[in-house]
Amino acid sequence: MRYVISYVSTATSKISSYDIAQLMDLIKTNNNKLNIIGILIYSDRNFFQILEGEKHLVKMIFNKIKKDARHYNIIKMLDKEIKTPTLRKYNPSFTVISDHYNQKELQQFLNKEKTNNPEHFDSISYLTKKFMKLT
Ligand SMILES: Cc1cc2nc3c(=O)[nH]c(=O)nc-3n(C[C@H](O)[C@H](O)[C@H](O)COP(=O)(O)O)c2cc1C
Repeated sequence: MRYVISYVSTATSKISSYDIAQLMDLIKTNNNKLNIIGILIYSDRNFFQILEGEKHLVKMIFNKIKKDARHYNIIKMLDKEIKTPTLRKYNPSFTVISDHYNQKELQQFLNKEKTNNPEHFDSISYLTKKFMKLT
């Protein structure tokens, strides 16, 4: 069963932009290995993440994320099954964005998301754009 979890959180003040860049590289590699798709955006010391994939894997990763001391104030927004079947026409790569200006990456992610998760597309599109201050 495919599943989606999405949340926002705040980075601890100790974490540097170098640490964030390293964390993002690790996350992209880990998630791609597990066929987890979605996005992690870092903006103004806040994280916004969407994790989509096999239910047990998404839950397993989120359990680790919840316990991670590099962030706090985790507020979950989506925690539900995705009923639409996946159309694997695209390259299922996890997207990471760590500045406000990478609109191209965000657009590519949203294009894939429209096919991949049409049930939640409107809220995901709205939230990601707000988070990156594009609207
Ligand atoms: C904001 C945030 C998002 C994270 N997202 C992921 C993720 O999507 N996938 C992942 O494997 N680890 C993610 N991590 C890192 C995990 O919390 C954990 O450190 C990492 O999976 C290694 O865990 P392990 O040493 O138990 O294997 C994230 C950490 C933070 C602070």
